[in-house]
Amino acid sequence: MNMKVIGIETSCDETSAGVVEDGTKLLSNVVKSQIDIHKEYGGVVPEVAARNHIDVIMPVINQSLKDAKTDWDDIDAIAVTNGPGLMGALLVGTLTARTLALIHKKPIYPVHHVLGHIYANWLTDVVEDRPQFPVLALIVSGNHTHLFLLESHLKVKLIGRTIDDAVGEAYDKVAKVIGLEYPGGPPIDKASKDGDSNFFDLPTPKVAGKYDFSFSGLKTAVLRRTQELIGEDFRFPSWQIPDRLTTEQVNNIAATFQAKAVQILVNATVKAFHEFKPKSVIIGGGVAANRYLRQELQAALPININYSPIELCTDNGAMIASLGCFMAEHSHPTDPRDIKTNPSLKITYQE
Ligand code: KG4
Ligand code: ZN
Repeated sequence: MNMKVIGIETSCDETSAGVVEDGTKLLSNVVKSQIDIHKEYGGVVPEVAARNHIDVIMPVINQSLKDAKTDWDDIDAIAVTNGPGLMGALLVGTLTARTLALIHKKPIYPVHHVLGHIYANWLTDVVEDRPQFPVLALIVSGNHTHLFLLESHLKVKLIGRTIDDAVGEAYDKVAKVIGLEYPGGPPIDKASKDGDSNFFDLPTPKVAGKYDFSFSGLKTAVLRRTQELIGEDFRFPSWQIPDRLTTEQVNNIAATFQAKAVQILVNATVKAFHEFKPKSVIIGGGVAANRYLRQELQAALPININYSPIELCTDNGAMIASLGCFMAEHSHPTDPRDIKTNPSLKITYQE
């Protein structure tokens, strides 16, 4: 296709820009995370996120061009996340991208953030490692838990999703209850290594849809079991729990929660694998960085999974640029003035 695209991502707490050639060649990926700023609040503060994006967006974009050893003359198109995500945060990325498209006279493509996560898996120089259609994709992040079937580029069918919380959200909330820091995924994964995953019984959620997920009940069950463990009832404030737990108990709770959460994800994915018989299975989103999920999913499937590097699992501009390349190849650009920012953007299935 011979096309260089810059991707811009500001939907949550990472300001990022990456340059990708032909959808697969990673030329640069600059990620400026705000995690340290939001850590003290135990979660992302939308207004603070938007203000920080404004401060760093242009330096991040300029650095991504520099790292890719390129400049605007050599860029063929711009791709930008226009939803879903935080309104203020998304506005910074989309307005910047729209302005740059007008100034530099570049075609622009609005990218759905969750579909962007899928494309992190195309960013590899090894041709055999790239996904083969049909692709079964499990996207697991702080806001999304989706199972997709891709018949070809942009032909995406949503086959399952969470009916309440996202799995990453459950990780973050459980971490808070047991006194681990935000974001909860990495510390829970680490604590689990030394824990007993049968520490207490956790319920398997019931969902109507065959490939749907639910994590809200699991999160509440962890809270209740933990309150019982320290000899208290449901009225005991969760913020006082960490002081009452030993490191061993924290490790055991983390391991028990993680085993259940991963089991729910793996079961649905394996069921979908046997029904849809995809050639490739991929995972994406922040939770796809999880060591235990990677191991359990691979063990449960008869085909080999080529996991993308951890830094491409969490939010980044390169994955947006990759999907942008395929959009440029298979669809038409949008007039920069018509790009709408939509915090609850839906996925449209394209024939
Ligand atoms: O995709 P992402 O960077 O942002 C969203 O689009 O939400 O995902 C962030 C989420 C957080 O909930 C974080 O706790 C989780 O990904 N996460 C992990 C790991 N690393 C990040 N969850 C489990 N294990 C990890 N190693
Ligand atoms: Zn994300």
